[in-house]
Amino acid sequence: MFITLEGSEGAGKSTLIKNLKKYFIDNSIEFIFTKEPGSTEEGAELRKLLLDKTIELDPISETFLLLADRIEHVRKIIHPALEKNKNILSDRYLDSTYAYQGAGRKINKEDLDKFIKPLNFPEPDLTIYLDLPVEEGLMRAKDRDTLDRFEEEEIDFFERIRDSYLKLAREDSNRIVTIDSTNSEKEVFELAKECIEKKLNES
Ligand code: TMP
Repeated sequence: MFITLEGSEGAGKSTLIKNLKKYFIDNSIEFIFTKEPGSTEEGAELRKLLLDKTIELDPISETFLLLADRIEHVRKIIHPALEKNKNILSDRYLDSTYAYQGAGRKINKEDLDKFIKPLNFPEPDLTIYLDLPVEEGLMRAKDRDTLDRFEEEEIDFFERIRDSYLKLAREDSNRIVTIDSTNSEKEVFELAKECIEKKLNES
């Protein structure tokens, strides 16, 4: 089972992951938790570059760095896990690229598809998208000590990203489940747990 978690800055992905990890351990459900960018040794170097706000990157260069991270991630972590029929949950994956580089950085979808489709990345069985109004997410994110290269962007950038996630969720409603992140931490966890368990029982 391959599950991905998506959402903009401050949407509560980290809190949900913390709660899911505890739940899976308490219930002896085996899950591998991973994330993008930066889960492999090589990816960790790429992540540093991608988040470094002293670096100015062309949107296409940014996309290729993210894809290089994904290639290593899929080859070294996701594929081996799926081949052994393990459950894996990735904090961000393909939809992030369509939302951030597509809508956020304004790379058109046809161009993104040309870069991405030949790479044959595995499709997630389920994607949970945590949706939150942009202002609220940015307020939560700004409570953090330092802002990275993405978090420093203007509000319009994040509005485009949210609209794009909502559109992706409408277009692929069999795969993507939207959870309203203005709900309490407990409610978000219960809703996510419910749809993960439903998927696990189907398989
Ligand atoms: P994180 O804060 O969730 O760890 O993610 C780091 C940043 O990377 C986040 O601002 C979103 C960005 N990102 C993209 O722009 N495109 C992608 O494809 C991925 C995986 C992440």
